Amino acid sequence: MANVFRSSQDSGGIFKNESALLPDFLPEELPGREKEIKELVFCLKPASENRQPQHALLVGPPGSGKTAVSRFLLKQLAECSQRPLPVYLNCWEAPSRFAILSSLVSSVGEVMPRRGIASDELLSRFVEIAKKEGRIPIIVLDEVDRLLAEEGGEQILYDLCRASELHSLKTGVIAITNDEELHIRLDSRIRSSFLQHTIKFAPYSVPQLKEILSQRARLAFFPDALGEDVVPFCAAVAFKLGGDARAALSLLLSAGKAAEQENSKKVSVEHVRKIRDEAMAHATVKAERKLGLLDKLDRQIVKVVKKAGKGGIESGKIYDSLMGVAKDRAIRSRIDKLVEEGILVAQEVRLGVGRTRVIRLKS
Ligand SMILES: Nc1ncnc2c1ncn2[C@@H]1O[C@H](COP(=O)(O)OP(=O)(O)OP(=O)(O)O)[C@@H](O)[C@H]1O
Ligand SMILES: [Mg+2]
Repeated sequence: MANVFRSSQDSGGIFKNESALLPDFLPEELPGREKEIKELVFCLKPASENRQPQHALLVGPPGSGKTAVSRFLLKQLAECSQRPLPVYLNCWEAPSRFAILSSLVSSVGEVMPRRGIASDELLSRFVEIAKKEGRIPIIVLDEVDRLLAEEGGEQILYDLCRASELHSLKTGVIAITNDEELHIRLDSRIRSSFLQHTIKFAPYSVPQLKEILSQRARLAFFPDALGEDVVPFCAAVAFKLGGDARAALSLLLSAGKAAEQENSKKVSVEHVRKIRDEAMAHATVKAERKLGLLDKLDRQIVKVVKKAGKGGIESGKIYDSLMGVAKDRAIRSRIDKLVEEGILVAQEVRLGVGRTRVIRLKS
C-alpha cells in the first residue's frame, strides 16, 4: 500500500498556511479598528517618553478585536522603546491578586518562592525592580470580570491603577471586558481611573469583516483556492452572529478544511453553508454565545421564549410574563430586534377574529 499520509497530502492545494486563521495569530494590521488604536496609542505613548500613561477600559462583544488590538500595541510599544514593560495577563489564568503579582514579578525576571510569601511583599518587590530599572509597566488585564469575581480582586486593580500615587511607579493599566456595565460595579476610586478612556469596540460591520477575512485569506490560502463569494458569505454569516471576527475566521478555516477533506480544489460557498448548518445544529453553544451579547431585557425575553419550547409562545403571553419588567411596547420592539438579528422567529397566526404573532427561538 502506498503511504497513506503522502497520498492524502497530494490532494491538498488549499492551505498555504492555515495557522493564519487561528485565533492566536497576530496580523500586521487590524482593519476597522483605526479609531480605537489611535485612542489607545494616545493613552500609552507617554510611557515611551518616561511620562505617566493613562489607563483605559476596553469594552465590547466577543470577537470585536479587543485582545488583538491590545497585544498588537504592546508589541509595537516594545519595538519602539525599551522603557515600557509590557505585560499581558488573562485573568482566567491569573484570577487573584496573588496570581497577578506573581506573574508581574516573574515578568521582571525575578523568581520568587511560590509559598510563604505575602502578596504585599510581591508588590513591593515588583515596584522596587521596575523603579530601579526605570521601566514603566503597561499591564493588560484581559477578561477582567473574572478577577472581580474573586474576593480581593478589586484590590489589585486599585494597587496598579494608583501605583503612581501610592508607590511613585508610573504604570498603565488596560482592562478588558465584554460587560458594558462593568464600570458600574467598580469601586469609585477605580472607576475614576477608567472614566476618561473607556474605549467601546463595536461589532464589526460586513465590509469590515470582509476586509479582515481577505487579509487573512491571502496569507492562509493558495491563490485561486477560494471561490469568489466565500469571503462575502462568511462575512455575512459572522455579521449575523454579532459582528464577530473570531466566528468569521473560524468559519473560513472550517470551510477550507471541509474542502480539503473532500479533495476539492476550491473552497465554495457550499462548504461554508454546510459548516454553518452543522454549527447551528450545535446551537446551544452558539445561542449562549449570542446571549452574551444581549442585555437584560433581551435575555429575559429569550428565556420566556425558550421555556415555551418548540411550539413557541404568543407575543401577548410574553408581555404578560414580563409585566412590570417593561412596557408592552418596549417588549414588542425588542422582539422585533431579536427577530431581525436572527435569534427569534415570529409567525403571524389568525386567532379568532384577530391576529397574533407566535414567537419561537430560531433553531
Ligand atoms: N481588526 C481586525 N483585523 C484582523 N483580525 C482581527 C481584527 N479583529 C479581530 N481579529 C481577529 O479575530 C479574532 C478575535 O479577536 P479578539 O480575540 O481580539 O476578540 P475579543 O474582542 O478579544 O473577543 P473576546 O471578548 O471574546 O475575548 C482574533 O483571531 C483576531 O486576530
Ligand atoms: Mg479577548
